[in-house]
Amino acid sequence: MSKPLNIGMIGYGFMGRTHTNGYKRVPDFFPELKYKPVLKAACARDKEKIQAFADQWGYESIETDWKALIARKDIDAIDICTPNNLHKEIAIAAAKAGKMILCEKPLAMNAAEGEEMCKAVEEAKVPNTVWYNYRRIPAVTFAKNIIDSGRLGRIFHYRANFLQDWTINADLPQGGNALWRLDAAAAGSGVTGDLLAHCIDTAIWLNGSISDVTAMTETFIKERVHTATGQKQKVTIDDACAFLCHFENGSLGLFESTRYARGHKALYTFEINGENMSLRWDLHDLHRLEMFDYGDEGPFRAWKSIHVTDAGGDHPYMNKWWVPGLQIGYEHSFVHQVADFLKSLEEGKPCGPTFRDALETQKVCDAVLQSAKEHVWKNV
Ligand SMILES: NC(=O)c1ccc[n+]([C@@H]2O[C@H](COP(=O)([O-])OP(=O)(O)OC[C@H]3O[C@@H](n4cnc5c(N)ncnc54)[C@H](O)[C@@H]3O)[C@@H](O)[C@H]2O)c1
Repeated sequence: MSKPLNIGMIGYGFMGRTHTNGYKRVPDFFPELKYKPVLKAACARDKEKIQAFADQWGYESIETDWKALIARKDIDAIDICTPNNLHKEIAIAAAKAGKMILCEKPLAMNAAEGEEMCKAVEEAKVPNTVWYNYRRIPAVTFAKNIIDSGRLGRIFHYRANFLQDWTINADLPQGGNALWRLDAAAAGSGVTGDLLAHCIDTAIWLNGSISDVTAMTETFIKERVHTATGQKQKVTIDDACAFLCHFENGSLGLFESTRYARGHKALYTFEINGENMSLRWDLHDLHRLEMFDYGDEGPFRAWKSIHVTDAGGDHPYMNKWWVPGLQIGYEHSFVHQVADFLKSLEEGKPCGPTFRDALETQKVCDAVLQSAKEHVWKNV
């Protein structure tokens, strides 16, 4: 007998859609799970728009005030898909009401807010997770399994990029739908919290904690019209950020993110170099993991490209999908996160990254921004 898990979704934008797709797909592809998500209510301020979203995706009801959603007795889990400046208030209220929480990344505007959120969920003892979804792309999970097996040997280097080009146009306004990302009052920071946070979460997961950082940031376009006022206002986010770091395992890290790399839409890549083996991954070819194994016989030593499609169980998550050779995509990372969250409820275990795990990423982001401001190395 399946147990319903009533979802209260806040926000109907990009992430509202990816998560809802996840809730809908899970029962079909993970039928063994005890909990079954029910699309109970969707919430946003604009009644017509949230009703249209609810009708399209199959939510049973709507709310126009997130406080009313949290107050509802028939909601088990709150899913926070709003701009970053609302994460803390919503999460703390949801924890106090005893709701489970699935919160979008970055956890908060900064680490101080994140710490308050961790305390709230830990005091309330409510299950919680943060949607660093790239962990659940099979090729990335596969990389994690290989690294954890110790096959890479001593790790020397970790490097990651997240490159986009969508803000080069100086006429693009800041504030409002989706463009809240260009306003630090809503986003907390620019590419650091939006894009590098993903790279940092994956890096910590794969290669362990980061101890200290030195960073530079740049804001290329200094003023943009704000949609709220119609006036040109100072741009307060970082348009680009690059940083160096030490990991606690002694390896060196190099990270770069920008929204000014003409031609790149969402080029997230990482590479890790160990004494025996290197691995690299590219979001634009997300179902492949590239591997160089020094243990291969001399003449055959080369970079290989593993198509992560083994439904026989060798590749994570793939026994849930199609036959070997056929791949899945970006949206499946969210399906997997929902499935893992439901499984964690059954097992009474945390579903990583928890708020506490995501706080570590937030602390690195804070140190990066502070280092860029002061032009000095910063401990995390
Ligand atoms: N995991 C990822 O890969 C990923 C990708 C994109 C965004 N995100 C994160 O997801 C969150 C949302 O981003 P998005 O791209 O979906 O943004 P979006 O602009 O597409 O959607 C934001 C939604 O929040 C709603 N909203 C704003 N204020 C509200 C309020 N007071 N009450 C109720 N609803 C409100 C808006 O109506 C909108 O539906 C952000 O934290 C962002 O950093 C994560």
